[in-house]
Formats: sequence, C-alpha cells, structure tokens
Amino acid sequence: MIQVQNLTKRYGDHTAIEDVTFNVEKGEVLAFLGPNGAGKTTTMRILTGFMPATSGTATIAGHDIFDEPYEVKKRIGYLPESPPLYTEMTVTEYLRFIAKIKGIERKQRAQALTRALERCVLTEVRGRLIGNLSRGYRQRVGLAQALIHDPEVLILDEPTTGLDPKQIIEMRQVIKELAGRHTVILSTHILPEATAVCQRVIIIHEGRIVAVDTPDQLSAQLRQSEKIHLTLKTPQPETADVLKAVPGVLSVFHEPSSDGQVFIVECELGRDLRTELASQAVHHRWGLLELRAVTLSLEDVFLKLTQEEAPEITA
Ligand SMILES: Nc1ncnc2c1ncn2[C@@H]1O[C@H](COP(=O)(O)OP(=O)(O)OP(=O)(O)O)[C@@H](O)[C@H]1O
Ligand SMILES: [Mg+2]
Repeated sequence: MIQVQNLTKRYGDHTAIEDVTFNVEKGEVLAFLGPNGAGKTTTMRILTGFMPATSGTATIAGHDIFDEPYEVKKRIGYLPESPPLYTEMTVTEYLRFIAKIKGIERKQRAQALTRALERCVLTEVRGRLIGNLSRGYRQRVGLAQALIHDPEVLILDEPTTGLDPKQIIEMRQVIKELAGRHTVILSTHILPEATAVCQRVIIIHEGRIVAVDTPDQLSAQLRQSEKIHLTLKTPQPETADVLKAVPGVLSVFHEPSSDGQVFIVECELGRDLRTELASQAVHHRWGLLELRAVTLSLEDVFLKLTQEEAPEITA
C-alpha cells in the first residue's frame, strides 16, 4: 500500500532523514519509533505531501506522491503533531467544514459526519465548542478530521502525546479498530505504544532506519543468548558450579539480594533450560523462590540500537 524508496530530506546542510526505505502492507498498523529529532515528522510530512523530499520516491496505493499529489491526498488522512482546530467552532461545525473542503459530496456529508463522530467516540460532545474540550477530546477531533473522508491510509503523528493514561488507552483502542480497514502509520517515542497497537515497528534514529521488525522479532534479533533469572533462598557454596555444569549453560552470575540469592544463568541461544534448572534447585534443596526467562523489552532493544555504548543488559 505504501512504498518508500531512498527518501532523503536536507535542510541546508542538515540532513533530517537519509535514505529511508520501507513498505507498509494494506491494513497494517506500523509504528515509527524514535527519539526527538529522529525524523518521524519529516517523513510523515513528505508522505502527506506537505513538503517535498530532497531525493527519493514514494507511492501510496500505486500513486507517486510527487507526480500525483491530488490522487495521494484523497487517499490519506493526516493527524499532524498539533492538529489545526478552530476553537470557536463546535465539533459538528468543524467536521462539516472539513468534509466540505475535503470534497465529500453534499448528500454524503451527513453520513460521513455521523460515522466519524461514532468512530472517534465524539457523538456526545458534538455540540460543544472545540475550545472548551479537554486535550484528549481535541485529539479525537483531530483524528475525526483525518478519517472523515474514509481514506485508505492514515498517518498519525504522535496521536497520544499529552493525553492522560485513561485517554491514552481510549485513543489506542480507537486506533486498533482502524487496523485492517485502514493502513496506519503512527509515530511515537513512547515505547509501549508501539507494542500495544502495532504489528510492525520501524526504529528511526538521527534520520536513519536502524531496525524494522515485529516487536517480538526485534527482541529475538538482538538477543545473543537466553538468560534465566533464578532466586534461591538457601543456595550452597557449590550452587554456581552445579548450575554451570548443566549442559547448555554458558555462564552463571551470582548476586546476593535482600530476599534471596539471585543467579543469572546464561544459556545457549534457542535452549530453554528452565525445567532442568528447576529440577536441579529442587533436587539440591536450594529453596527455589523464583525462576523466569529474561527477555529484552522493546526499550532495551531501542537503547541497544540507538546508543553507541549499549548498556549491559541484565535482569
Ligand atoms: N524546517 C526545518 N528546518 C531545519 N531543520 C528542521 C526543520 N524541520 C525539522 N528539522 C530538523 O530535522 C530533524 C528531524 O526533525 P523531525 O521533526 O522530523 O523529528 P521527529 O522525529 O518528529 O522529532 P519529535 O519526536 O521531536 O517530534 C531534526 O534535527 C530537526 O531539527
Ligand atoms: Mg515529530
């Protein structure tokens, strides 16, 4: 549905994005994950036709964004970082106005309006002035203007920024319901957001794509070994040696803690030794308090990919 090839944008001698290439399948929800200044907004503004690229190409539903901007705009809904809302209009007045400027035919406007209000859970506040709405509701009005013409593609720039936890959950729910029917790209620097609503994540840093994968695959890709976290109440002096002798164990780190003794057991990749370690602990009466596999969170992956000196990842 979306194909981006070698997109580069320079502001003078400052490169905002460089050689960005990726595809998005129809119905997919994709996250752009990156810190401030990574180039997320720049990429989105180019895709939505708000500004030209320095070089590279992109097509949306087979239409070139530079050669056929009108065809592309019809198929895209865009929620910018700060949506341009008219605070002195009511929600209904504003969305009617947007429906008109987006070229929705007069006789279809009422239906488009009702549908947008429903999908963004705005029906109850439709008569209120936008200026009097809370930040969360304003953001939903921003989303409603992006999808009122039922576009195939939605580009949402940080749709949950500035919302409280409850509003974030509601907004994510609205976005999840768009999946399948619409192709969605959203940007975020909130890491759990990418895992919560997206099937695929593009990690972008200093204008370059540093990783593209599913949230699960990203952690697997970066994991060099499996680690198991073991907490024992009554370990013995030989415990570390016994653990090391288990086939598949590469190394054992031991650290005393207040509620027990923690052992981090590093195992060969692809070997799940939890059952074996549990039976050793029971057999030797080490007082097994806890045993779990240590997985890298998306946050660990992100830090690892975007920092030159990656921190040592432990439990
Ligand atoms: N109009 C401009 N003129 C010069 N530099 C710009 C302009 N717009 C953006 N930049 C620069 O391009 C880079 C990418 O900015 P962009 O806004 O795309 O980042 P972002 O990933 O959206 O960041 P944020 O998370 O803060 O929204 C930054 O270094 C920024 O300073
Ligand atoms: Mg931005």
